[in-house]
Formats: sequence, structure tokens, C-alpha cells
Amino acid sequence: MLIMLISKIRYIHALGVRCSSSHYVTTPIFYVNAAPHIGHLYSAVIADAHCRYQRLRYPDRNVRLCTGTDEHGTKIQQAAAGHKIPVAQYCDEISARYRDVFKAAGIANDDFIRTTEKRHKEAVAHFWQTLQSRGHIYSAAYSGWYCVSDETFLTDSQLRLDEESGTRFSLESGHPVEWTEETNYMFRLSQFQDDVRHWVKQEARIRPAKFEKILLDTLSEPLPDVSVSRPSNRVHWAIPVPNDDSQTVYVWLDALINYLSSVGYPNEKYLKQWPPAQQVIGKDILKFHGIYWPAFLLAAGLEPPQQLYVHSHWTVDGQKMSKSKHNVVDPVQAAEQYTMEGLRYFLLREGVAHSDGNFSHVKALRILNSELADTLGNLLSRACAKSLNPQQIYPAPHAEESSALLKELDAAKRMQESLLQMAARCEQHYECNHFHLVADTVIATLHATNNFFECAKPWELKAGASAANAPRLETIIAMTMDALRLCGIVLQPMMPQLAGRLLDKLRVPGEQRQWKYLASHVASNSRPLDAQSALLFQRIVEQQDNKPAPEKEKEKTESKRSKAKKQKELKKNKQASSSST
Ligand code: MSP
Repeated sequence: MLIMLISKIRYIHALGVRCSSSHYVTTPIFYVNAAPHIGHLYSAVIADAHCRYQRLRYPDRNVRLCTGTDEHGTKIQQAAAGHKIPVAQYCDEISARYRDVFKAAGIANDDFIRTTEKRHKEAVAHFWQTLQSRGHIYSAAYSGWYCVSDETFLTDSQLRLDEESGTRFSLESGHPVEWTEETNYMFRLSQFQDDVRHWVKQEARIRPAKFEKILLDTLSEPLPDVSVSRPSNRVHWAIPVPNDDSQTVYVWLDALINYLSSVGYPNEKYLKQWPPAQQVIGKDILKFHGIYWPAFLLAAGLEPPQQLYVHSHWTVDGQKMSKSKHNVVDPVQAAEQYTMEGLRYFLLREGVAHSDGNFSHVKALRILNSELADTLGNLLSRACAKSLNPQQIYPAPHAEESSALLKELDAAKRMQESLLQMAARCEQHYECNHFHLVADTVIATLHATNNFFECAKPWELKAGASAANAPRLETIIAMTMDALRLCGIVLQPMMPQLAGRLLDKLRVPGEQRQWKYLASHVASNSRPLDAQSALLFQRIVEQQDNKPAPEKEKEKTESKRSKAKKQKELKKNKQASSSST
């Protein structure tokens, strides 16, 4: 009872005063032991789409997105040694690749933090000293199985023994572990079990809810204290423990503190943005963010994050991505085929946070061609076609023609209903990071609009046929463009550049791209369209190399046959012409 009370007081004390206009969002910081792949990009794209929506919907909110790289520890030391490059240079190179990929993918991060930066090292030293002065750190002889790849000690129940080789592996990641005996500093995690459980159980703290259950299961067993340092002679590429050079700070404690260093901790200004409104993480790092992190923060007297948003993983053609399987999807290469906007759309459209998603070329091609090229792109091209729209305008509708169309055509009514519901539905989906449902809703509206366009048959009213048809033709184009304008506004967080080009083409002024403009309907005056091309998304044509082998063989034989046929004909013609001369 007393423990519960102390735990509650500690928790309430840690809440502090939160600045409600601040909305601080983070991605995990990425290990620099390998180049970025689509799984890494996925964490960043979720956080970016979330922030872009926040900026559109709540323009007064101070939204801040931080990402960066995690550069210390044995794993990085070994990777640099493997490449025979000095470790600092190795970190610079891989960190720059993350920065470049995120830039190319339109990730609008306000900060990119590296754990090798001075500002971060200072924050770690201050945080350590705070934990120490509050009595949460002690020194002890420690032994256990350490997994370098996961950068963590594992208990027996987290291991699998391979009887043949006698090697133990991490059950979760499948990587080998090594027996380690050393003197370490330990953090009194066991004392924060009730505080952490209380934090986890708060409404919408961990999303999707499935991951809350996983954390509560872990928390139903007593938590062991955790080692928070390693001897410097073993892990030298790390931040030294303040006042004890023989030890370096455990990489996960170091890494988690990046979220604080980015907002200026320990300078008090960090309080303006603390705590994070949402921290996006992959399911593999749930324990570190859902147990260690709130415990470290509560121990330091700081408020833990408002929400952890946990996503599942991408497999490739049903297999886990790994270097050894040669199936790692490089976002830069993928973007050459799908475009970066297409790749963003595919990840957000096809990924669902609670279950693993499968990245398949066939699926990507099908979705991008049918949704971005045929449904969205084609509609814009048709509405902007010179044959229907010779003046190249976004016309104003004629009120009596709109009413007539809505009365006469079921398709017009269905489009209108779909448009009326779209904003509220998409808002609800964006609030929960359900990007796939946003895409579903927008695509359904675009299908309804394509259907309206088809049923209204604007080509039968083409200018020139009869001047009396002009008001109806303009109204059909105006209603179609208005639907496109609204879909463009909604799609901005998912595909900022492509949606931007759509809104540019329709000459929608910058300030009218905010979420609140979804409530306003057609423009009252005609306006000229932008001169840029109306081609939004080029249909992707299957490349030769991606075709299945039997298909390629068939084509080869066919082309050989037709070559032989042509040569035969050529010979015949030559003979014929020589005999005629
Ligand atoms: N450095 C740690 C995080 C420290 S945060 C204080 C780390 N880095 S990581 O580079 O291995 O992973 C970064 C993110 O990428 C994690 O959210 C992880 O879940 C995500 N992904 C790595 N592989 C993935 C897939 N195959 N699919 C989706 N996301 C995946 O962990």
C-alpha cells in the first residue's frame, strides 16, 4: 500500500507543467552499423506524416520532429573495424546516408541528432549525475549473456541453446550471445516496476493496444536491475561515465537520452517541449522504450512520454529482411522505380502498425498504378485535357447546373456524400496514425468522382458543340476539380510533393491548403490553371529484369522467331529485286 502511494506521488511529481501548444515527436535514432533500408524509412515516414497532419490541422501548435543516428557501442566499433575505417569517419559516412535518404523522402525533421555530438554527451553526463545523486545507481559485479547485435544482456528465458554447436542465441532477434563477467554500474529498475506499470496503463499510452498488453505481461514478472555501464577496455567507443574513466555509459541509456538532448536538456528551455507527445518506435525496441525509458525518466524526476506509437516490421516476399538473404530493400533504389512519393505512399498505404507488412514488387506496382496513376492522376489529366478545357481554367460552378446534376445523376450524389464524409473520417484516421484508412477513404472518394465524371459525359458537351452547353461543362469540371482539391489537401501528410503538385496545378493558394479549408467548397471565381504538366504519376511499366523467368524466355524465343522471319523476308525481297533487274 505504502509502495503504491510513494509510486503515485513520484509519478504525479514527475508530471510537471506541460506546455499544451507543444507537440514534440521523435523517431528512434538509427544505428550506423549499416545503410538505411525501407524498415528504417518506415519509422521516419510514420513520424513525418503524423507531424505534417498536426501542422495542417493545428497550425498554432508548435510541432517538432527529431530524428538522428545512434553511433556508440560494440556493434558500431565492430562494423567500422570490419570496413577498416576509423570509427569516427565510419559514423560520419553512414550518418550522412540517413540524413540524405530522409531528405530525399521529404522527412521534415526539425533536428537531426547524433550521439557523438558534444550537446548530447553533455546531456548524458548530466542525466547520469542526476540518477546517481538520487541514489538510483550502484556498482556491482555482473555476469550474464550479452548480445552485441541487440546491445543488451539477456536472461536465460530470452535465449535459445543450439545443442549441436553449444551456442546460445537471442530468442527475439536470433543473434548469438556471449558470456560476460565484469564490474558494472547498475540501475535500480526493480524499484520502478509499479511506476512503470501505472504509466503504461494510462489511456492511449501505448498504441496499438496489443503492445500495451505485451508490456503488461513483461511487467507481471519482477523486473531485475539493469546494467548501465560497460568496462571502457571492452567498449571504448562510448561516452565515459562521469568521474570514472574505467567505465562507459551503456549504449541504450546513452541512446534514449537523445530525446532530451535534442530539446536542449539540461538547459531549462527543454521544458517548453517536454514531454514528447508521441515517440514512434518499431516493435523490436519496445522493452527499451516501454520499460527502461519511463523508469530512467521517473528516476531522474522527469515526465515520461505521452504516447509510444509502435509499428511492426516489413518483410520482403514473406521473409525477414537481412544482409545474408540479400533481400534488404534500399529506399534509394526502390525510389528509382516507384519514385520517393510512391514509396512513401506504398509504405503508409500497405503498412499497418499491429502486424508485419510484406513488401512485394508486384503489390507495389499494382497499388501505385491503380491508385496514383489510374485513379488520381488520370482524373486530373482528364479534367485538364485541352479538348474539354481549352481555356485551361479551374472554372466556377453554375449553381443551377450543380443542383441539376445532383438531381439527375446518382453518381453526383454519391460523390457529394463521399466528399462530405471524407474530412471527418480522415481526421479520425490521422489522429490514430491509421494512414491506410486515410488512403482507403480518399481512394473511395476518387472512385466516386471518376464515376461522376464518366456518368456526366463532359465530352458530349465539348465547347463548340453548342454554346448553351458551356455552363454544364464548366460545372462538371468545377465539381471534379473541387473533389481533386479536397483529396489533395487530405493527402499532403502522406505525399507532400505529389499533393503539392496537384494543388499547384489547381492554383490553390498556400494558406488555403490547411485542414480547415476542407470545409469550404468550390471557388466562386474561375481561375487559370498552372502551366505545369497535369501528369501527376507516371504509370510504372514492368521492367524487363523484374519479369518472371518463364515470361522472359517466351519473349526471347518470340523475338528470335520474328528476327528469323524478317531475315527470310529480306532475303526473298533481295532475290526478287535482283531477278527483276
Ligand atoms: N538504435 C536503436 C534505436 C535507439 S532509439 C533511442 C535501433 N536502431 S535500428 O537502426 O536498429 O532501428 C531503428 C528503427 O528501425 C526501429 O524502430 C526498428 O524497429 C526499425 N526497423 C528496423 N528493421 C525494420 C523492418 N524490417 N521493418 C520495419 N521497421 C524496422 O534499434
